[in-house]
Amino acid sequence: MSHLVSPSLLSADFLHLQRDVEMLNDSEADWLHLDVMDGVFVPNISFGFPIMNLLQSITDKPLDVHLMIVQPEKFVDEVAAMGAHIMNVHYEACTHLNRVVQAIKAKGMKVGVTLNPHTPVALLNDIIEELDMVLLMSVNPGFGGQKFIQNTLSKVDELKNLIIQKKTNTLIEVDGGVDLNTGKLLVDAGADVLVAGSFVFSSENPREKIHQLKML
Ligand code: DX5
Ligand code: ZN
Repeated sequence: MSHLVSPSLLSADFLHLQRDVEMLNDSEADWLHLDVMDGVFVPNISFGFPIMNLLQSITDKPLDVHLMIVQPEKFVDEVAAMGAHIMNVHYEACTHLNRVVQAIKAKGMKVGVTLNPHTPVALLNDIIEELDMVLLMSVNPGFGGQKFIQNTLSKVDELKNLIIQKKTNTLIEVDGGVDLNTGKLLVDAGADVLVAGSFVFSSENPREKIHQLKML
């Protein structure tokens, strides 16, 4: 399959969210990436359910929800109720990861597990068969506009090998510092979904940036 692009709304203009979501509706974006931060798991706070529910009502795109929060299991029902396509929880935030994964699936959502830059891919060995997607962080989560961590490329490679070895259909998504250069390297390494925030929204022509990412 050709790769997907999931623009992160974190870098959008928060005073004009409706305008930016409508722009995305009219773009080649495959998903809409929503970054939820709690000020505990990451040193920043973004937005929560009141805003996401409104966004859901005006987007045509499947919601790719990335929870950078402690105890994400508390919010499985809310994320399902807002009609999310996929719920991503951090490996580092889940003591009983298998239980959280099953709870997300039981609500009919796809499930993704996210790894911080320092968390080894090998830790997924005994859960990968349950996962629809693995989200590799290529920056330390919490902020848009950071520099891509090069080591992510070898993690994509390692994850691809694990997926092949286990014969699963798990997608590989990468988030942080994605632009045309890093995006090309990631797609060549086997990434299936590219998240991009500042690269898309800092442009005068975000739709064109999304098109360029799709063309990689
Ligand atoms: C970072 C978020 C990312 C962020 C990416 O914590 O998870 O989704 O919006 O932003 P860029 O593409 O600017 O690195
Ligand atoms: Zn994200």
